[in-house]
Amino acid sequence: MTTPPTNPIRWPAEALWEAVAPSLPGFTVEVLPEIDSTNTELMRRFRGSATVEPRPEPLLLVAEQQTAGRGRLGRQWQSRRGDSLMFSLGLPLAPADWSGLSLVAGISVAESLEPLLAGSSAKPRIGLKWPNDLWLSTPDGERKLVGILVETASWEGLRYVVIGIGINIRPVTLDPTLPASALASVPPGGLQELLPDVDAPAALLRVIPPLVQAVQAFAQFGFAPFQARFAARDVLAGRAVQLSDGTTGTAHGAGENGALLVHTAAGMKEITSSEVSVRPLTASPGSAAEGARPC
Ligand code: BTN
Repeated sequence: MTTPPTNPIRWPAEALWEAVAPSLPGFTVEVLPEIDSTNTELMRRFRGSATVEPRPEPLLLVAEQQTAGRGRLGRQWQSRRGDSLMFSLGLPLAPADWSGLSLVAGISVAESLEPLLAGSSAKPRIGLKWPNDLWLSTPDGERKLVGILVETASWEGLRYVVIGIGINIRPVTLDPTLPASALASVPPGGLQELLPDVDAPAALLRVIPPLVQAVQAFAQFGFAPFQARFAARDVLAGRAVQLSDGTTGTAHGAGENGALLVHTAAGMKEITSSEVSVRPLTASPGSAAEGARPC
């Protein structure tokens, strides 16, 4: 049995609803003290309701704690109440092409947490690691700040998408018994290193309205309009990378459809599969040397 938390977290549910509902009719916000995984819960609800409810309403599900948080490629997402922000946005969506949605979510979150200053040539500290991670560059090297897990389900022609996002507000201590294959290629970081005053509720309020807008723009225009914004934060660009099938090459950014372009001995390869893991073989310039752990 888990001990009930003593310090209540004040979530900005009403402010979020006011900011989002005008452009996303039917939108609601729900906060749960604990759930296995917000992605799993939204998928369960979609599958359970699909036969009775013709069109599920858009829902933002926030969990203060997850007991079975999931990451990409079957990995776990580890978190701690208050130190991590965990939520999933579930909504019906009908883009002409689904490629690049996870990148768009990442671009939006990165820009909300660290807007690029007009005219500044300074390198942003929040970078995007294709396809679904946000990395923070620190004096000690790169740290994983955000993980994104996009899942879809369909019922009689209706596609429902769940965009699950985990943000480390303070670095989590990883379970030391986990094998290297279950870990990201960089250690966890914390948003408070960049924004000391931002806690989980404040980060949620900052991130959600632009995320909804970005998802709606993606549904209408696809990934192409986001390509340059991805490039501005692409942490793999120009770096030697290794794919999970062992192929090595140099990363050349994301194409118009969001595919990762990798120059290999056999020519330019377009990596689209979400089943492929890509890890840099070299540390970014100026960062501490990085171990060769899979992401
Ligand atoms: C990854 O890094 O591989 C993706 C991690 C995604 C974690 C978030 S936390 C909220 C939502 N619920 C989950 O179980 N996973 C996502």
